[in-house]
Amino acid sequence: MSGLSRYADRLPPIAGDWVGLGEGATPTVALPRLGVAIGLPRLRAKCEQVNPTGSYKDRIAALSLTLARERGQRGWIATSSGNAGTSLGAYGARAGLPGLLLATPTITREKLVPIQAVGTTVVRVADIGTGGSAAAAEAVFATVRRLAAQHDLFLGVTANALNPDGMRGADTIGYELAEEDAPQVVYVPTGGGGLSVCIARGLAQADAPTRVVVAQPEGCAPIARALAGELEQPRVERCTTAISGLQLPSPPDGDAAVAGVRASGGWGTAVGDEAILDAQRLLARLEGLFVEPAAATGVAAAAADAAAGRLARDADVVVVLTGSGAKDLASAAGWAGAVADCEPGEVGEVAARWLADELDVPAPPATGEAPAR
Ligand SMILES: Cc1ncc(COP(=O)(O)O)c(C=O)c1O
Repeated sequence: MSGLSRYADRLPPIAGDWVGLGEGATPTVALPRLGVAIGLPRLRAKCEQVNPTGSYKDRIAALSLTLARERGQRGWIATSSGNAGTSLGAYGARAGLPGLLLATPTITREKLVPIQAVGTTVVRVADIGTGGSAAAAEAVFATVRRLAAQHDLFLGVTANALNPDGMRGADTIGYELAEEDAPQVVYVPTGGGGLSVCIARGLAQADAPTRVVVAQPEGCAPIARALAGELEQPRVERCTTAISGLQLPSPPDGDAAVAGVRASGGWGTAVGDEAILDAQRLLARLEGLFVEPAAATGVAAAAADAAAGRLARDADVVVVLTGSGAKDLASAAGWAGAVADCEPGEVGEVAARWLADELDVPAPPATGEAPAR
């Protein structure tokens, strides 16, 4: 039931059954049209958005809740901008373990409702996420850590510094990439740094020579900036990006991410929110892959690096698509376009306009005239 179980010998020991929903073993697909458009014709994507709840966090939640159940813990507690909460809630329901989620105030409705649907208690906490401060985030992490220890709850925060065992579930992305056809470079959308640490660790364990690149929004890029030598520590005071999921000014795995990326020979690339939304649109329009903005950050960064000459045209690059577009519909509303309404009798006219616009089919003659032969 879990695509992770075949890596059991490399993960924390599990005696019984997995709490699984069919996560892992995700496809890597070629992106030929997008690749040509951004000057990287060999571009591929690791499709983590196809996991059961729509993000790679399912790998972490499957292992976390399996461990929580084996350890006889009473429930779980975590912070999240939504994806980790959705995953922990779903796997928690499957394991019969209740959860308390401290969410960012801007959590999207599409993330919030599924978390509540599976029975998780959600509370939105001020001053974390968009516009949030490093101090507030650090205080919340400290509180959940204390509560978990005090009440024998599984600490589900998806960071190696807080949940080292559960995070090993995401190492399996690195194992899968190494097994399939290890790329020269992998682009990882990065917030707290945990995912990049896991992928770098998984690839290194499998002896893959892949360079790991962290892709961050400019409005919250402590790890990319530390890698570039702009900051001594991977920490900024405030987060100004609107890209949900990547809003951690004080990334819990910042130092580990800097070390893991450096050891792989990789680097960090920061891109603006506009470029990220552009990449989201291009992925959808050119490849039919609708992902959430955070997940498109790797594409935006790879495009920027290709344009800057940092990546050769024939570079073999994989971007990790971390979460589904269905999780944040408002973000796409700006570019997806308005929808028109019509009466049944107007369908022919509407179709004629579409044929003319999209397929260059000449407009039909005005009503009453015989069509020219
Ligand atoms: C869709 C998405 N991509 C990437 C990340 C970044 O992961 P990390 O915080 O481990 O760097 C997150 C984290 O929440 C996410 O939700």
